[in-house]
Amino acid sequence: MKKFTNVQDIGSWRDAVKEALEIKNNRFAWQHLGRNRTLLMIFFNSSLRTRLSTQKAAMNLGMNVMVLDVNQGAWKLETERGVIMDGDKAEHLLEAIPVMGCYCDLIGVRSFAGLTDRDADYQERVISQFVRYSGRPVFSMEAATRHPLQSFADLITIEEHKIKERPKVVLTWAPHPKSLPQAVANSFCEWMNVTDYDFVVTHPVGYELAPEFVGNARVEYDQRKAFEGADFIYAKNWSAYSGDNYGKVLSMDRSWTVDAEKMALTDNAYFMHCLPVRRGMIVTDEVIESPRSLVIPEAANREISAQTVIKRMLEDL
Ligand code: CP
Repeated sequence: MKKFTNVQDIGSWRDAVKEALEIKNNRFAWQHLGRNRTLLMIFFNSSLRTRLSTQKAAMNLGMNVMVLDVNQGAWKLETERGVIMDGDKAEHLLEAIPVMGCYCDLIGVRSFAGLTDRDADYQERVISQFVRYSGRPVFSMEAATRHPLQSFADLITIEEHKIKERPKVVLTWAPHPKSLPQAVANSFCEWMNVTDYDFVVTHPVGYELAPEFVGNARVEYDQRKAFEGADFIYAKNWSAYSGDNYGKVLSMDRSWTVDAEKMALTDNAYFMHCLPVRRGMIVTDEVIESPRSLVIPEAANREISAQTVIKRMLEDL
């Protein structure tokens, strides 16, 4: 594997989950692959789970790991081509990327959407430049429009917990005070759409996701109706995608918060969220603390999804 930025890069999802579960049962069996190899993790944005789980995954494989927080101690980076660099940005990404590639064997990148220019965000300008100019295999640790390591971990978690061959999985928008990217929701759609699950997306009017991500998912504007008979409820906030509202918070309607009364409409569904989560906005304490909450197993599986991707990249070096 030379690149991991979307669901297509993983190939067969069933083979990927099978391999992930083998790794989970024997996570130190491939230490020889990473010997004398170095992973560089580059963060343009904050992280808890991605940073720790990806570093742990690389260490499980015997790798050395370097972490660069671009906003803490590195030169400020210009990302646009053709600009006169007379401001506070001292270095251009087009030099920085190949330089970074000189010091490592694999690169992981986290770079969120700016949420002001939809075209720029959906062109994935930052991670695509790493893929093009680093000379190294590159994987996404969440880019502007997708978070594939999260979605892969979510898929592993669903496969571990499902009791029906074709579970009903519901992605529900939930309120949040800040403007958040669509990346987790987009990616979750993309990964659910390659399975044969019964997949439903529910959100208020105005929160429609990009059609290329929604694909063949059923969209249901009535959240309660969407929850009926569900086996997995995946909650997430995202800001508006459409037109002039791109990146805006259109609603903080707490009637969309996931609570016990709504979970009672489901078929004893599991609750899922990628974390970090705002209690009282996205979900009530009662639901996230219930025995049906999978938020911690999901986070634990981030180590496994990352290790599967890094292992495949090391095997192809
Ligand atoms: N879910 C996730 O990506 O968490 P972090 O932002 O803490 O890495």
